[in-house]
Amino acid sequence: VGDIITDEYITGVTSRISREAPVLILKCQSQEIVPGGAGNAVNNLAALGAKVSVIGVVGDDEMGKKITRYMKQRGVNTEGLIVEKGRTTITKTRILAGGHHTSRQQVIRLDREPAGPLKPSTIKSLQEVFNRELKKADAVIASDYEYGVLDASIIESINRAALKKLVTVDSRFQMLKFKGVAALTPNESEVVEALELLGNKGKKKTYLDGEGGYRKELFDDENNLSRWSRQILEQTQSRGVLITRGNKGMFLVEKSGRKTLIPIFGSEQAVDITGAGDTVISTFTLALAAGASMPEAARLSNYAGGLVVMKRGTATISLGELMEALEKDCNEPQIKNSYRT
Ligand SMILES: Nc1ncnc2c1ncn2[C@@H]1O[C@H](COP(=O)(O)OP(=O)(O)OP(=O)(O)O)[C@@H](O)[C@H]1O
Ligand SMILES: [Mg+2]
Repeated sequence: VGDIITDEYITGVTSRISREAPVLILKCQSQEIVPGGAGNAVNNLAALGAKVSVIGVVGDDEMGKKITRYMKQRGVNTEGLIVEKGRTTITKTRILAGGHHTSRQQVIRLDREPAGPLKPSTIKSLQEVFNRELKKADAVIASDYEYGVLDASIIESINRAALKKLVTVDSRFQMLKFKGVAALTPNESEVVEALELLGNKGKKKTYLDGEGGYRKELFDDENNLSRWSRQILEQTQSRGVLITRGNKGMFLVEKSGRKTLIPIFGSEQAVDITGAGDTVISTFTLALAAGASMPEAARLSNYAGGLVVMKRGTATISLGELMEALEKDCNEPQIKNSYRT
C-alpha cells in the first residue's frame, strides 16, 4: 500500500543542435514505462514470485491506464488501485540521450504531479480495499513517497494490522507515526530527518557538513548507528530497524538488541541506484513472510539491492538471479567484515 509513481523513460539519439533554440535535438528511439515508488515495490515482489495486491491511487488518465495494465500483465491484483477522477497520475519522465555507440545520459526529468490532496471519498475507498485485501494477506508493505496515500487514517489501519500481520514500512517523512510494526527500512537521510539530528531540537553543529547536509561519516560510527536505530525502535515500538546505507551496505538492529552489520554485495560502482530501497524492502519482507529471521532477510535483501543497482532504471530481481548471487558468494565470499552480536 502506498504511492504509485509511473517512471517513464524516453531515449533518443543526439542528432544536431536546433535552429529554433540552443538545444539538442534527439531522434526518439524508445519510450517505456515502469512502476515506480510503491509500484516498484509491487513490481519487485511480483518478480520474486509473490502474490501481490496493490493498494494505491492513479488518475483517470492515459498513464494511470498504462501503469495499471503493466501491473496486471505481471499477475498483480490491481483491484485495490483507486482511480480518482480528474487526478494526474504521478509521472516522472526521464529523457535520455546518447549516440549510437555512447552510453545514454539523462538530459532532463519532467515531473507530473497531482495539484491537490486526495479526495475524502478516495481515502474512504482506500480504507475499504485495504481492509478487504488485508484478510487475504500474509504481509503488508507500506511504501510512503509523501504523495498522500499514507494519510493519518490509513496509517492507523496499518498500525492496527500490525497487531496481527507482518508489516514493514519505508516512509520518506513520517516513519515515526507507524507503531508496533515488524520493521522499518529508512536510509541515512531519513534517519537524520526523523530524529531531527540537524533540526531545532537536536541541532548539533558537529553533525553538519557545511552545505546544510549531514556529515556522511557519522554513520560509519557504529555507536551512532546503534543509538539512532534504537531511538527509532523505541519510538515506533517496532521489532527491527534496517538502515540502508547505499554503497556502505546495511545495519540492522532488533528489539532483542542483536545487531547485524552487512557490507555491500558486488562492486561499489553502481550503474543506477534508483529504487534500490524498494527492492530491499520487497525482498526483506517476502523473506520474513517465508519464515526467515531478520538478519537472514536483511542479508537476502542486501544481495538483491547489490544486484539491482547494476541495472539501468527502475528494475527488479528474479529468484534465479538472487540464487545465482548467493551461490557465487558462497564460493567466493565477499562478506568479510559482517558480524552478529
Ligand atoms: N553502490 C552499491 N553497491 C552495492 N549495493 C548497493 C549500492 N547502493 C545501494 N546498494 C544496496 O541497496 C540498498 C539500498 O540502497 P539505498 O540505501 O540507497 O536505498 P534508498 O536510499 O532507500 O534508495 P531509494 O529510495 O532510491 O530506493 C543498500 O543498503 C545496499 O544493500
Ligand atoms: Mg528509499
